[in-house]
Amino acid sequence: MANSRRLESVTVSPGKPPVFHVLSRAEWKCAALVIPIVESSKDRFASDGFPPDIAAAISKAIELHGFDGKVGTLMQANGIGSAERLILLGVGKLEKINADQIRWAGSLLARHLRKIKINSVTFHPAGLELTHWPILAGAFAEGVSLGDFRFTAYKSEKKSPSLQEEAGKSRPLTLSICCPDQNSVKTVQRVLAEKSVITAATNLARTVACQPGNVLTPSTLTGIARNIAAANKLKFSVIDAKTAQKMGMGGLCAVGAGSASPPALLILEYLPRGLKRNAGKAVAVVGKAVTFDTGGISIKPAADMGNMKYDKCGGMAVLGIMQAAAQLQLPHHVVGLIPTAENTLDSQAYRPGDILHMYNGKTVDVTNTDAEGRLILADAIAYACEKYKPGALIEMSTLTGGVVVALGSVFAGLMAGEDELAAQLIAAGNSTGERLWRLPLDQAYRKLLDSPHADMVNSGAREAHPIQGGMFLSEFVADGVPWAHLDIAGVAHPKKDDRWWIGDHASGFGVRLVVEYLQNLGA
Ligand code: BES
Ligand code: MN
Ligand code: ZN
Repeated sequence: MANSRRLESVTVSPGKPPVFHVLSRAEWKCAALVIPIVESSKDRFASDGFPPDIAAAISKAIELHGFDGKVGTLMQANGIGSAERLILLGVGKLEKINADQIRWAGSLLARHLRKIKINSVTFHPAGLELTHWPILAGAFAEGVSLGDFRFTAYKSEKKSPSLQEEAGKSRPLTLSICCPDQNSVKTVQRVLAEKSVITAATNLARTVACQPGNVLTPSTLTGIARNIAAANKLKFSVIDAKTAQKMGMGGLCAVGAGSASPPALLILEYLPRGLKRNAGKAVAVVGKAVTFDTGGISIKPAADMGNMKYDKCGGMAVLGIMQAAAQLQLPHHVVGLIPTAENTLDSQAYRPGDILHMYNGKTVDVTNTDAEGRLILADAIAYACEKYKPGALIEMSTLTGGVVVALGSVFAGLMAGEDELAAQLIAAGNSTGERLWRLPLDQAYRKLLDSPHADMVNSGAREAHPIQGGMFLSEFVADGVPWAHLDIAGVAHPKKDDRWWIGDHASGFGVRLVVEYLQNLGA
């Protein structure tokens, strides 16, 4: 069915990423000098080394104005000697300073800069504990880049666009970081270069994730993914609906059947120079991209249904991961698989009671057309195992409302068939702040999926919904493949103010986490 309201293609532009510089000594002449202030400590900043006018201004701000250095606070003074603007940035208690705290401060700074329309600043770490300096410098830059994210593509009057969005018209956002320790200059430079790539990839994932369902359909997403692949020299292929039908991908085809925009399986492949495809070596990353989830015939209630445009966030994270893998030239073979469909309803739509033949030969009794994510993922996972024989498979999806109830927007649910992969992912989550909480995958739960008509139902009774999702997916992972399922329903689009750097848009959860995991794998 042709649909004139549907767009054939769309282009998305996340804007120009910020530029990070490392200075080997303080440069006082700048548009804005940013100094971190530690909470409730006598030596709140190291005054030695500062020109007297600036040191005096900082002391005055702290003493007279009672600036207390709490994370999430900031104070600006203008016309201080050689610095046009002085911005004091609260970074919290010294003993609590960690990457998450510094990221938060960085994101707050970015929002402030956007308001005052200043796009070039110098950060002087002053009295910050410098033992973990390269990590903290990286976290700060990361916070600035992520905190600057806005999605204003559909606002006629852009009140406060991000500096990255504006960069086309003016200069890019530029952050210069003074590196007080000569020895760490090179390391900080490398860390900042990586953070630039990783945050740009995260913001790309967020930009696409924010596109509404009338614009972003399986077919427009295919075009976007193709462009991202081309720009990053990734191999790109599409298993379209007709081919998927012939191949027996009954889950993907059923979920997409009610939409004017047919479903597809998008595949982006990164193979490092000189590396051969090798069984047991590739990392497969699979992400759910339901461009809009009405629930289908088992239709959802109206309240908040609009948020189901974010039901593609797992797949969008895969786009970001693939871009970052290519730009960082990681030493691993990485395959990104994005099953995409619009779960909506017309006379062609699949229905409760239908029995589906899945790609791996198993049959599914559809009890609820709103448990659609696992159906498209099942085919993608089975295909990934067969075709790429991965050494690890990581799947991300906004799969269940149950995980939102259980973990809210702080932790994502992790379900893993294997302890080592689970531990690696939890570690990567702790260092990126994209934290994971493990839920059990145990055969004792399998009976929740028993069906009198087929091998399993797609959704059982009310108990343990997130685990039902994980148990369902485990039926489609080939024996011997270490795999993990991340249920990101609660963290992919948290409410405004739930998390510091997100605002009221998609978070890009999963990009930083999985890139960190890949970087930690070593060569
Ligand atoms: N996309 C939803 C899950 C979801 C819910 C994501 C809330 C973000 C916020 C998924 O497709 C769904 O509808 N899940 C149902 C499954 C149920 C019908 C078995 C759920 O969890 O309610
Ligand atoms: Mn659903
Ligand atoms: Zn869904």
